[in-house]
Amino acid sequence: MHIHKYERWWLTFGIAMLVVFLGVIAFAAFADSVNPPSDMQQIDPTKVAQTPPFDRPGLRKLPDGSYEAYYIARVFSFAPSIMTIPVGSKVTFYVTSSDVVHGFFIPNTDINMMAVPGWVNMESHIFVHAGEYLLICHEYCGIGHQDMFAKIEVR
Ligand code: CUA
Repeated sequence: MHIHKYERWWLTFGIAMLVVFLGVIAFAAFADSVNPPSDMQQIDPTKVAQTPPFDRPGLRKLPDGSYEAYYIARVFSFAPSIMTIPVGSKVTFYVTSSDVVHGFFIPNTDINMMAVPGWVNMESHIFVHAGEYLLICHEYCGIGHQDMFAKIEVR
């Protein structure tokens, strides 16, 4: 089969770029330890409501003044549905699901995770600005997916 010289150049360029991009991802993951905020610890998805600290989802203040927020995602809501956070505080979110895979996304923050049954995922954010934030499920989870959200008030 004859391949035109320019076609061969482009093929070579395309394959080389693919190798470079995959190399960058591999370097970030293995050398720089850049990984998704996932799979921090395991939990029995059938016993989430009975397993501490998810038996009492909500906000907890730590001795250093920062906060931990525990959330359960389930079809088609988050528990808790409303949370009030003091402005300027650092909050570490812990999320798990008691049924299917959900999303856990707070626009205008660093928080963008998946809520996976059987796993606890974790990510932190400092709420510098007061206001009302929306927590939304951005992973299609069923017929009520578009109604799955919660509110976070920062004040
Ligand atoms: Cu939960 Cu989409």
